[in-house]
Amino acid sequence: MCKTARFPMALMALLFSGVAFSQSTAPSRTSDFGKREFEANCASCHGVSGKGNGPLVEFLRRSPPDLTLLVKKSQGVFPMNRLYEVIEGGNLPAHGARDMPVWGQEYRIKDAEYYMDTPYPISPEAMVRTRLLALLEYINRLQER
Ligand code: HEC
Repeated sequence: MCKTARFPMALMALLFSGVAFSQSTAPSRTSDFGKREFEANCASCHGVSGKGNGPLVEFLRRSPPDLTLLVKKSQGVFPMNRLYEVIEGGNLPAHGARDMPVWGQEYRIKDAEYYMDTPYPISPEAMVRTRLLALLEYINRLQER
């Protein structure tokens, strides 16, 4: 099958990943917010361990990178700012079509929906930042040293 024809399948898989995912690797019930965010939103492609072996990999055009080697690949430093931009804004070095969702946008939409009817004065923007920082802190803990 040609590669472009597979893309709608990747989207479909993403749409239904909530279902497929909860059967295979249900996010653990933990108070570790970063871990929960990662398992709920990232592990379907990047794998629970971050190694890039999630159940959706076969539907993607590009293999998700191993997220446990980020420090090793950056001379021993966790590339915080670069990763924030990659995850928040989809600022990826790869050329052409991309498989990785733009999480800043996804979260902004979800959070706006969630907070629409609540009286709490929390800005969706602050929630997006909190989620991304929790994720990055968790990814930092996944690093092979
Ligand atoms: C639909 C599959 C998919 C999901 C879900 C996904 N990613 Fe990715 N991710 C990829 C792919 C594929 C790449 C490689 C770049 C590309 O082709 O888009 C990537 C690249 C990355 C990179 C770049 C690493 C580098 O060194 O530049 C980071 C960081 C990352 N993902 C983190 C996350 C986080 C955090 C989440 C959850 C909020 C997530 N990804 C969810 C597929 C996914």
